[in-house]
Amino acid sequence: MAVPEQTREVTMDKITSLAKRRGFVFQSSEIYGGQSGAWDYGPLGIELKNRIQRFWWKEMTQLHDDIVGLDAAILMHPRTWEASGHVENFTDPLVDCKKCKMRFRADQIDQDKLAQKICPECGGELTETRKFNLMFKTNIGPVDDGSGLIYLRPETAQGIYVNYKNIVQSNRMKIPFGIAQVGKAFRNEIVTKNFIFRTCEFEQMEMQYFVKPGDDVKFFDYWREQRWAYYQKLGVDMKKLRWHQHGKDELAHYAKDAYDIEYEFPMGFKELEGVHNRTDFDLKRHQEYSGKDLQYIDQDNGNERYIPYIIETSAGLTRQLLMLLCDAYEEEKVADKGNDDDWRTVMKFHPELAPITVAVLPLMKKDGLAELAQEIRQGLKQDYATDYDQAGAIGRRYRRQDEAGTPYCVTIDYDSKENGTVTVRDRDTMEQERVHKDELSSYIRGKIKNYTRK
Ligand code: GAP
Repeated sequence: MAVPEQTREVTMDKITSLAKRRGFVFQSSEIYGGQSGAWDYGPLGIELKNRIQRFWWKEMTQLHDDIVGLDAAILMHPRTWEASGHVENFTDPLVDCKKCKMRFRADQIDQDKLAQKICPECGGELTETRKFNLMFKTNIGPVDDGSGLIYLRPETAQGIYVNYKNIVQSNRMKIPFGIAQVGKAFRNEIVTKNFIFRTCEFEQMEMQYFVKPGDDVKFFDYWREQRWAYYQKLGVDMKKLRWHQHGKDELAHYAKDAYDIEYEFPMGFKELEGVHNRTDFDLKRHQEYSGKDLQYIDQDNGNERYIPYIIETSAGLTRQLLMLLCDAYEEEKVADKGNDDDWRTVMKFHPELAPITVAVLPLMKKDGLAELAQEIRQGLKQDYATDYDQAGAIGRRYRRQDEAGTPYCVTIDYDSKENGTVTVRDRDTMEQERVHKDELSSYIRGKIKNYTRK
């Protein structure tokens, strides 16, 4: 059977609709009309998110001997954010329309209109541009008089910096070394659109690599290479990725040099991850604001003391999930059906990332096929995330699994009862092979190992 050739255009509306229909992502608090900037991850979404996180974690910690993990608290001492520069600098320029009341980021609208104070939506008058801090504030303790001011962290990085000395001492880390962390971050974004691309609550996967001053450029280049290779391993269409170097006006207050890896989403090329040379800015500032000595003592080099430079790789977990939804999505004309307009929607996730790896489907419920299918599923559970479906026509069940991105469907039929063989249907090619049930697990393991997207 030939691999289906034709594909239709991928749009964000199609992705959003499939994500809801199949339980990847739901709007937060939908029954109350929804909460903008926040999303909930359903049964398939959380499986996919967990797998991306595990993939990244393995890549950073297990495959790099010199990187250890951390899980720091979201709530940090408020001085952290003064030291980091976020209180002063973590702002977006904001304008409001006095007529239609729409709010815009001043740097994202037509600059001629902005100069003339003309609303890009209704032509009404715009306010002066003002700076708006993106950090969410809340209050710790019972008295709400401002004395308990605390922020929800806008990046996970600072939790690593304030723990760097603890980790050097407790784990005897020697420079160069890295600390990896995955966790929630919060930003009061003015414009949240494009589904889960830019949200107020999201997750980051960040790694901070501590190096000797002077070695920073070498390790910056090294980490750029490493991060590019990661997306290759993830099985993403590399033609949709590109580098973007920050110009002087784009660089964050802490960065000496920065590159984004951008992905071509349906709305165009957008940032996926940043690799930043943060110099010694962060540790110097924390040393200054905390009064603690944050110098590294190089015992192998005559106790030389210095504040390390930091190379940061900062990826959005939820943004990577959106990237994978877009990258995996295909609509194919299923030519072999003899029906010119028979299409299937299929999510071609790498099998290591797919929320369900194997679906077990009895051809019929009766004649002991369902029982045999359950027994076979039981045997696969230790090794794979499985699903079981006995409802409806087999073709329709395959299509449901295609939409969930399940790479392998195992069908139990009357021959299975006779000779113990089952059919394994490959999601991408739709080809079926007969395999003995006792060899099923190792057969699937081999397929996953040798997987290349078709
Ligand atoms: N510690 C550096 C830092 O936070 P960033 O470029 O502001 O750098 C890093 O963010 C990554 O976090 C981005 O490349 C993106 O993947 C993700 N990210 C940032 N803001 C986001 C938002 N509002 N919603 C979803 N993901 C976001």
